[in-house]
Amino acid sequence: MLSNASIASIAVTVPGGSYEVLVGPRLLDAFGERLAERFGAPGKRAFLVYDAGLPDEHVVAASRSLAHAGFMVSSASVQPTETAKTLGTAARILVDLAETRHERGEPVVALGGGVTCDLAGYVAAVYRRGVPVVHCPTTLLAMVDASVGGKTGVNLLTPAGLEKNMVGVFWQPAMVVADVQALLTLSERDFRAGLAECVKHGMIGGEADAEGPLDPGLLDWIEANAERILEREPATLAELVARNVALKARVVGADEREDAPAGLSRMLLNLGHTFAHAIETIPAASPSPKPEDAPLRHGEAVALGLLAACAASEALGLAQPSLRQRVEALLRRLGLPTQVYGLPAPAGVADRMRSDKKVSAGRLRIVAPREGSRAGVVALGDDRAAIAGLEAIGAP
Ligand code: GLY
Repeated sequence: MLSNASIASIAVTVPGGSYEVLVGPRLLDAFGERLAERFGAPGKRAFLVYDAGLPDEHVVAASRSLAHAGFMVSSASVQPTETAKTLGTAARILVDLAETRHERGEPVVALGGGVTCDLAGYVAAVYRRGVPVVHCPTTLLAMVDASVGGKTGVNLLTPAGLEKNMVGVFWQPAMVVADVQALLTLSERDFRAGLAECVKHGMIGGEADAEGPLDPGLLDWIEANAERILEREPATLAELVARNVALKARVVGADEREDAPAGLSRMLLNLGHTFAHAIETIPAASPSPKPEDAPLRHGEAVALGLLAACAASEALGLAQPSLRQRVEALLRRLGLPTQVYGLPAPAGVADRMRSDKKVSAGRLRIVAPREGSRAGVVALGDDRAAIAGLEAIGAP
């Protein structure tokens, strides 16, 4: 049984319905029962898509929990890399699903990080024109970002390079189960990478929906609790995840498909990401002078993207240097990179940024942060602000 005492439940409400994000310790041991209530096991199949790099204990816990609850469990593993997040991998899982005769109404369960959630979500969205997906994120990045909000997709390898998330659909999960115990087995580098998305949320916490500001104290809280977060103190981790999920839930609730004509825009969640997507797809880009540290983790690229966005915002006259200094100091404390090595010339990287999905009529659009944890979407007339952003993070 899941004991409710230490579990936070956050509702994500979108036009098509509402779902629960459960946050707490040891949820993987018992989440099968919740799914059985929801999907009517025994007598149903569950298809587990799991990250091949996960410690066995998580895969065993999830499979056992589903089987004990009466599901007939099949599974497929995926490599947790951007180069494996392709239509080819999606096709392989689709064939596996068809071979198990997985039916409509039976869940695909994603167990892993952002790559696994994006891939499994995409497969669930297109198989038989849509079957439910339940996300069980095991990385911080997937808990606070990829598993919530229904963005699914794969990368496209074009002659110009890997284009991130170029093929995908919005497909909201039926449920999200964030077992914070899984964060204890992450490598230091992977854990820290996820913190970049939390800092991003802190930088927009002063924005508001109809209920008021999202979480204006989040950035201060991360600063005040940085040591406890890095020590992975369980209660602090649970609060970190729950607060970030709650913020994201409100943004997604206000603008599910990133097309709201007014009000709180989901595009704000792309703060730093137009820069990040361009630099993380450069194979030589490294977070340190050591080339063997390349490629960048997505979260590391986001950390660099946040700083580039601050510098671009300064170049546009929208932010003071003090904002960049504050963010840079926090990223350093969290062990995230503030400079990137191995980048080509900024003008070439700015050009790569044009493959971003947010480009409109060939013009780059970036999210420009401001003081007070506020931010806005700005269409750039030319590349000067983007180049200023890239110059701020490029190691000499
Ligand atoms: N990761 C950005 C979003 O979910 O909109």
